[in-house]
Amino acid sequence: MYIGIDLGTSAVKLLAMDENGKILKTVSVEYPISFPKSGWSEQNPEDWYKGTIEGIGKLLEGEAEKKVDGIGVGGQMHGLVILDKDDNVIRPAILWNDGRTTEETAYLNNEIGMDKLSEYTGNIAFAGFTAPKILWVKNNEPENFAKIAKLMLPKDYIVYRLTGAYVSDYSDASGMLLLDVKNKKWSDEMLKICSIENVTMPTLHESADVVGTVKAEIASQLGITGELKVVAGAGDNAAAAVGTGTVGAGGCNLSLGTSGTLFISNDKFSVDDKNSLHSFAHADGGFHLMGCMLSAASCNKWWMDEIIKDKDYAASQKGITKLGENNVFFLPYLMGERSPHNDPEVRAGFLGMSMDTTREDMIQAVLEGVAFGLRDSLEVARSLGIKIEVSNICGGGAKSPLWRRIIANVMNLKLEIQENDEGPALGGAILAAVGCGRYTDVVSASKSLVKVVETVEPEPELVAKYEEKYRMFKKMYPAIKDLTK
Ligand code: XUL
Repeated sequence: MYIGIDLGTSAVKLLAMDENGKILKTVSVEYPISFPKSGWSEQNPEDWYKGTIEGIGKLLEGEAEKKVDGIGVGGQMHGLVILDKDDNVIRPAILWNDGRTTEETAYLNNEIGMDKLSEYTGNIAFAGFTAPKILWVKNNEPENFAKIAKLMLPKDYIVYRLTGAYVSDYSDASGMLLLDVKNKKWSDEMLKICSIENVTMPTLHESADVVGTVKAEIASQLGITGELKVVAGAGDNAAAAVGTGTVGAGGCNLSLGTSGTLFISNDKFSVDDKNSLHSFAHADGGFHLMGCMLSAASCNKWWMDEIIKDKDYAASQKGITKLGENNVFFLPYLMGERSPHNDPEVRAGFLGMSMDTTREDMIQAVLEGVAFGLRDSLEVARSLGIKIEVSNICGGGAKSPLWRRIIANVMNLKLEIQENDEGPALGGAILAAVGCGRYTDVVSASKSLVKVVETVEPEPELVAKYEEKYRMFKKMYPAIKDLTK
């Protein structure tokens, strides 16, 4: 049995998979997130660890023989976890969707210069990346900065706690803006720019490499027998791609979690001249391009849970029938936006309501606004000459048939739905199975274990209607960006 873990933003999701790829059980444990200021977001790494241990316990509940061979973790990317010399967490982790680093991001892009950043890392600075966060701590919390002995990404903290191995994998490390992605090594220039040339960095690995075994005291606390191997794991998007069969050259995956991502897999490193898409390593040993919107399924969660206070998402979507004809628009910038605007300060809005606007129109506008935001990244990919006609889809939002249909038509893409929609957790389990020698490599394991069970075709009439709406949506960000700061 293999355990796959998705260390997400709202919860840790875990699954147990048998050696033939059958999912035996899934569980999840939620933890809090704090927004200390508008656009800031933090979590306590101890909550991640406790949630993970509780989750593994729940997963194994009732198992007579608690025999697990391997664990693979996929995790929320870019978050900064800093430890002092005694391994104490110095301050709460600053997350991927935190936008406090406007100044540091501008310093990197304008004073160091995008050309240099791209030469060193294959990427430019985005507010959520790890390097600007390190500079923010240096500029704003010098006493904390001085204490840094280790710095790591969220899932690497879990691997460190479980095994004692101070490691990262190439896919997740790509999002730090400290990795020379093409050559798969830390960039000495970037370490220097961030004043961390003297901090020992995690050792780098491919995602399916076994990096250690679960410490004996943790295994016995969980009642696990035998040696439990842990692989390096991956950033959640790369793990999700493995979990949806998006491996090798030419695959595409859309993830509709707290963030929304467009992930294009490639067997070769590539970068576009404007660095509009992230150019990262993949968990299958290759590379990928990615666009990321900061608020996707979280827009719907915010709207349903916090504003209209209705937890029955499916029932609320039943009354939505007029696709492509909604006059209400939602601009999904609750946490600012990453791709393609790189604007941490813009905020969300509704536009176009009238006295006959209904509750359904508003719910529909939220779902459509997220689809339009994802389309923005697809447009960038298409402008680079990348042909995408079919995509996999995963994440909490992808459970909604209505939202899938909206996305297929807004993006004019055929969507393939996998038997299991636990993207990153399944990817983690597949990486563990490869690491433990059950499969020879990630590409063949993913291709043989992931099955498509349904497709959603774009409908020409709706595609045309949404094309019109998207043209209108595109004009809205430039119009509101200076009005919502
Ligand atoms: C990707 C990104 C998000 C997080 C979400 O660049 O920031 O998708 O990984 O967990």
